[in-house]
Amino acid sequence: MPSDFTIQSTLHAGIIMDGNGRWAVARGRPRTAGHRAGAETVTRVVEAAPDLGIGVLTLFAFSSDNWRRSPEEVGSLMALMAEYMERETARSVENGVRVQAIGRRDRLDPGLREAIARTEAATAGGTRLWLRLAVDYSGRDAILRAARSLLDPSRESVEAALGPPVDLLIRTGGERRLSDFLLWECAYAELVFSRRMWPDFDAADLAGAVREFRGRERRFGAAPPEPVRAVAGWLD
Ligand code: IPE
Ligand code: IPE
Ligand code: MG
Repeated sequence: MPSDFTIQSTLHAGIIMDGNGRWAVARGRPRTAGHRAGAETVTRVVEAAPDLGIGVLTLFAFSSDNWRRSPEEVGSLMALMAEYMERETARSVENGVRVQAIGRRDRLDPGLREAIARTEAATAGGTRLWLRLAVDYSGRDAILRAARSLLDPSRESVEAALGPPVDLLIRTGGERRLSDFLLWECAYAELVFSRRMWPDFDAADLAGAVREFRGRERRFGAAPPEPVRAVAGWLD
């Protein structure tokens, strides 16, 4: 995790960006075309997030289980992520977006690894949005790594090693599962599932998910709050 810094808003949203492949196949195009369109959605969503009160945005870009896909698809995803980093760095600096990758780096293409390092360094001063891109990421592996790095693991120290708890978890593409994303951090996350395929997801969809989140009552295991009771005389 980066050393101490302050982000202006507090809401942490995580997004499982799913449905690129189905979006492309439905249009008679290769799955990689869906990933390219999905990268444009990332730009839109990152732009819209801060005005919705999102201070931390964690996007699931490539899971550690996604290595099981064809070499062509994996290669195109690696290239697209490097391209995204290069293309968005200047805009991120301008918009106060601090970009960080989470997940394993040792198995990434060297070109992507270098692009990540450059973007992280260039955007380190951003305080409007902390954008975390989960690449070669596994929630179970992240918990294991955190636990192994600590002499006496506690809830607090594991949380500090992993990152902030997720408030709102969105998954596009219609599936209703976590697929090994932010397992610890989602302990009390509000879950919002969208049937929209990721390339079609837009700022209005993100605003709708945040609205739904704001309308939910979070209790963290406590009893629901007492309703306000009218007291004789209040309405006189
Ligand atoms: C999400 O879209 C992107 C990644 C997992 C890398 P998918 O590629 O999983 O799209 P579907 O689920 O097959 O439609
Ligand atoms: C989860 O989507 C991973 C990302 C969005 C990067 P998958 O498409 O890989 O998940 P499953 O296989 O449907 O569970
Ligand atoms: Mg999928």
